[in-house]
Amino acid sequence: MPIFLTNNYPSSALQINTRLIIACAEQLLDLCDMAGYSLSILLIDDREMTDLNNRYRGKNVPTNVLSFPFLDGADDTISSLPIRELGDIIISVDTAGREATASRQTLAERLAWLITHGLLHLLGYDHERSAPDAALMQDKENELISRLQLNRSKPMTLLAINVDHIATIRQARGTIEPDPVTAAALCELAGASGIVVHLREDRRHIQDRDVRLLRQTVKTRLNLEMGAAKEIIDIALDIKPDMVTLVPEKRLELTTEGGLNVTGQKKKLAGTIEQMAKAGIPVSLFIDPDFKQIKASHDIGATFVEIHTGRYCDAVSEKERDCEFHLIASAAQEADRLGLQVNAGHGLDYRTTARIAALDIIGELSIGHAVIARAVFIGLEQAVREMLDIIRFARHGFY
Ligand code: PXP
Repeated sequence: MPIFLTNNYPSSALQINTRLIIACAEQLLDLCDMAGYSLSILLIDDREMTDLNNRYRGKNVPTNVLSFPFLDGADDTISSLPIRELGDIIISVDTAGREATASRQTLAERLAWLITHGLLHLLGYDHERSAPDAALMQDKENELISRLQLNRSKPMTLLAINVDHIATIRQARGTIEPDPVTAAALCELAGASGIVVHLREDRRHIQDRDVRLLRQTVKTRLNLEMGAAKEIIDIALDIKPDMVTLVPEKRLELTTEGGLNVTGQKKKLAGTIEQMAKAGIPVSLFIDPDFKQIKASHDIGATFVEIHTGRYCDAVSEKERDCEFHLIASAAQEADRLGLQVNAGHGLDYRTTARIAALDIIGELSIGHAVIARAVFIGLEQAVREMLDIIRFARHGFY
């Protein structure tokens, strides 16, 4: 039976992932043995919620969730019909958003909690009836939420944010703002598991000062992306990031264009990996989804490979995208079989990420441009959270 979701929330200030809400409601119905029933969910703002709360409960203030059982007030004739409709859950997204901020949850997590709460009301639980009823409802709520979380059996795909583009904006004016160090802190606050910066030889965006400050301030993991050039290697050995990712670097390219040719420069790259290993810095090699490059990466002692997702993201037809996706999936499997840790990145955005994040073997996604571009309009923390929602849903069927 379907979940009927109506999104009447009028503002775009809060981004609502309706797919996640429906998946959450479906799971909850399953967990409550009500899978054959349908449920309506309506998302509104505080203004509309205040009207409803006033009309039905005599309270002229907004509330977070209201539930209306389908058969509430129905006469015996209707009640005896085999109707498999539970009723309506109405949620104020404004209130949910405030509560999410106060309880340090994502909006999606808060909405999941409110749907659980509303559903229990539809099933006859009522915390306002008496203290024992309140305890019973609270227990059931906790049980359902924890069972939803139990579904997260697979390890979470981590999200590392590349903040180069913040530095690009700063360099365009040659001032001190915006500061990629501040951006990194905001990304971490929003749930990113790592920060990536590319210290290019031409210093077109990230500066030495940024990397040194980030080394002191990043609380998750600092991944220094770099070409295997002596000057940059020396800086890495001095700063000691949590890991380095070796990439091919050309002066005139707009961004890293392709994966490293590991097979063609095994000796040079093996030397860099050895230098890093002596300093305790694990190395990732950014490579195309190509078995030869994977084998060579393994042969020369890389700890990680980062599989280039650019061609998958740039594909112009679904057929081509499918084909590129399968290359990435089989390359990830091969790298894992050889004992390499597997990351992926480049060009991933809010449409293309889910499919890659669903690949169990991939441990971390490195994403920059799409998140920073979205942040311009909706703020950096929100942009990171939305990407995290996509990744969690892709991996767990839930966020
Ligand atoms: N991974 C590597 C190795 C990169 O060079 C880049 C771009 O700096 C990224 C990931 C992130 O790519 P995008 O900015 O397109 O998300």
